[in-house]
Amino acid sequence: MKTQVGIIGGGPSGLMLSQLLDLQGIDNVVLEKHSREYVLGRIRAGVLEHGFADLMREAQCGERMDKEGEIHHGFYIAHGGGKDRIDLHGHTGGNSVVVYGQTELTRDLYEAREKMGGKVIHNVDDVKPHNITTDAPSLTYRQGDEVKCIDCDYVIGADGFHGVSRKTIPSDKIREYEKLYPFGWLGVLSRTKPVSPELVYAKHERGFALCSMRSQVLSRYYIQVPLTDTVEDWSDDAFWAELKRRLPADLADALETGPSIEKSIAPLRSFVAEPMRYGNMFLAGDAAHIVPPTGARGLNSAASDIYYLYHAMVDHYKKGDDTGLENYSKTALARIWKAQRFSWWMTTLLHKFPDNIPYDDKLQQTDLEYLLSSEAALTSLAENYVGLPF
Ligand code: APR
Ligand code: PHB
Repeated sequence: MKTQVGIIGGGPSGLMLSQLLDLQGIDNVVLEKHSREYVLGRIRAGVLEHGFADLMREAQCGERMDKEGEIHHGFYIAHGGGKDRIDLHGHTGGNSVVVYGQTELTRDLYEAREKMGGKVIHNVDDVKPHNITTDAPSLTYRQGDEVKCIDCDYVIGADGFHGVSRKTIPSDKIREYEKLYPFGWLGVLSRTKPVSPELVYAKHERGFALCSMRSQVLSRYYIQVPLTDTVEDWSDDAFWAELKRRLPADLADALETGPSIEKSIAPLRSFVAEPMRYGNMFLAGDAAHIVPPTGARGLNSAASDIYYLYHAMVDHYKKGDDTGLENYSKTALARIWKAQRFSWWMTTLLHKFPDNIPYDDKLQQTDLEYLLSSEAALTSLAENYVGLPF
């Protein structure tokens, strides 16, 4: 098989790029390790920057998002028994975010791919990039006992943190930056009415908590837990009781509890691999970078990678202009590191750090007090949260 762009990974990054390229008549193939059902079974975050929402519309995948997604003009920071609203709309000249589950977004992308007859090949094993430093790269993969080969002009590594693409790059050609946090997030999905019309990020002596949602009948809650905790340590009742302890009384009293339909613990990590290009292979999304979920930057960071790659590929194939491809890594990393900074800052601001000395705790509290008292600080928070320009 021959294609112009071979994409490893059928998650949001790979699917979005595949759809955008197809709309421009640029031939591509997506190789996905798992079934569509498996991919859609993943529970992920649900806050889209306005830039990502625009990209979904450009990819002709935004109809359900616009119908079912919720526009949020702000969120709350709960602390000291009360809460302060962060006015995103007011501090960014009218920008907001869209609350729409990543699972639904990925479903929309799969359905759009299917409608266009896009080539997404599922249940592939042993995907391997070959000759990526030549002008004739290829991908091999196995289905059952048969090994198949796809010749392509470019390879896109959109295969997530544990994928094969980044690991294909020789260790002396790539530099990895990583920061691990001394806690994780225990997340619960429940068919309950969200406790607040907008998200609530809670800073509490007992640890961080977050009240989010997927719809008006599907809530998503998180509490910070030690890395040693397991899901088995947390009954639904224990989770709800701890969440209530970390919320202001009015929210704790109003919290509608119910059976968890999903419960999981995720560690928090910051990670960046540089450069995001090796030969004719380009890394995008989680394959190249990971952020702690506090700032809801994960999917949104992938969006800017895809935006840059999409325009670079169009310029290459339609104008013979390779400037975008040549500058991709530098351009993408400039925005990625800003998302890394914001995610680190918001995580540091709101979580209980077990090894903090008292001075650190005072600085953390002062950072919050400064934020809530400064228009400049609030504007900085808001412009990062709604999404810096691509
Ligand atoms: N071969 C083929 N497919 C692979 C391989 C492989 N060797 N390794 C991983 N994959 C697939 C995974 O099964 C997954 O479906 O690549 C896809 C990568 O998708 P994601 O991990 O979702 O990464 P990405 O598409 O960049 O989306 C980033 O998703 O994980 C969240 O927090 C993340 O919100 C962010 C967004
Ligand atoms: C979520 O809804 O899963 C979510 C929302 C905001 C975050 C992180 C996760 O910052």
